[in-house]
Amino acid sequence: MKSIAIIGAQWGDEGKGKFVHLLSGKADVICRYQGGNNAGHTVVTGGKKYVFHLIPSGILKEDKVCIIGNGVVVNPYALQEELDMLKGAGIDPDSRLFVSDRAHLIMPYHIELDAASEEAAGVGTTRRGVGPAYSFKYARMGIRTCDLTEKDYLDRVVTLALDEVNAILVKRFNRKPVLKSDVMQKIPEYLDILNPCTVNTSKLLNEYIRQGKRIIYEGAQGVLLDVDFGSYPYITSSSPAPGGILTGLGVGPKSVGQVLGIVKAYTTRVGSGPFPTELKNEVGELIRKRGVEFGASTGRPRRCGWFDAVSVRHSLMVSGTDTLAMTKFDVLDNFDMIRVCTQYEIDGKKTSDFPSNAAVLERVVPVYEEFEGWDKSSGIRDYNKLPDAAKDYIRTLEEMLGIEIVMLSTGADEEDTIVRGKLVLD
Ligand code: GDP
Ligand code: IMO
Ligand code: MG
Repeated sequence: MKSIAIIGAQWGDEGKGKFVHLLSGKADVICRYQGGNNAGHTVVTGGKKYVFHLIPSGILKEDKVCIIGNGVVVNPYALQEELDMLKGAGIDPDSRLFVSDRAHLIMPYHIELDAASEEAAGVGTTRRGVGPAYSFKYARMGIRTCDLTEKDYLDRVVTLALDEVNAILVKRFNRKPVLKSDVMQKIPEYLDILNPCTVNTSKLLNEYIRQGKRIIYEGAQGVLLDVDFGSYPYITSSSPAPGGILTGLGVGPKSVGQVLGIVKAYTTRVGSGPFPTELKNEVGELIRKRGVEFGASTGRPRRCGWFDAVSVRHSLMVSGTDTLAMTKFDVLDNFDMIRVCTQYEIDGKKTSDFPSNAAVLERVVPVYEEFEGWDKSSGIRDYNKLPDAAKDYIRTLEEMLGIEIVMLSTGADEEDTIVRGKLVLD
């Protein structure tokens, strides 16, 4: 099967956007299967920078079809903003961008709830309403794109949802209630935005698969933020691991030919939650400065730390990752010494397992291996031209993780890439 899942193998922002764009040249269809506009995927090409939140990062290549699957939660205004951004840049997404008729919408009251609970005591969400939208989906009170023309359903479900929402907003958070009239007034606008591109995307995609088209499944966030396998409850509310592809697009398990994990050469995390290798010192500051580690969606500073082989091994295992691409190699240039966490020490005992409980993860003392640094990898596009110490770092990480690193990124631009091995799309 000539299809590939491109997923984040850490806490998000690994550089998925760069690789989805790069590999979209070899694909026909690019699909998002989970998350919403909490994502921020950056593509740097031809001297220009694009950031995608909802639309797949393959849209820049003219003839590619892009799908926003049923597993994605869609804020129609965020979609419109992105469509406008593309059109402003001279890219026409019309007739090749499709949104699932089963995709749930992020309603204004989901955003209110997210903001209110974050202000009280949150996990540092993006405040885009993503968590509440998924909660309401599973509580059977969601509004999907196909529901927007069903007046009775809309009326009943919005009333039900607002009963719940306003009880929380008013009683718990002492906020103003959301008015039903304000919500209903947005429906015609939502329809205007979504109608032209809404279809049964599962049917469309299965037809493409039957025709032998090449598919990219673009993960958002990362496996360590997965609702099941991440650092719960400091997670996002969907399944970035490849399991999310099947439910988030309505395709069978054999539709994923290969899983490509993306990792940074170090680790970052935005928002709260345990982070064993975090560097709360000048080294962490330096990585943030050199790597421009500020959220592509919210602009928040990302927390920075050394590469954590324990959490990445866990991530690779639960996601069946076949092969890796490593980004931001250049950010580690000029360090005298670089560290990698090889084991965790928890309550005095060493372990190679990633704990299931966040409180236990919080108690981790990382066990480090030290590496000699290197002068320059920035912009290098040929593996043989990398300094020996950089090659050693790569080789040792491959051994530690038990996986091949087939691509390396030495700069944000799509051209700053080293290709070492073949992928299923080749
Ligand atoms: P995503 O969410 O996984 O797509 O990643 P983001 O776009 O949120 O964050 C990755 C950031 O690193 C973006 O600003 C990219 O342009 C940038 N980037 C990607 N690869 C490299 C690299 O190899 N070196 C440097 N310096 N920047 C990179
Ligand atoms: P991309 O796709 C990094 C984090 C938030 C917060 C937690 C829950 O660009 O890698 P949410 O708004 O999803 O309910 O917030 O998840 N988070 C991300 N961190 N990259 C992302 O996306 C993220 N999307 C959500 O910071 O800690
Ligand atoms: Mg991002």
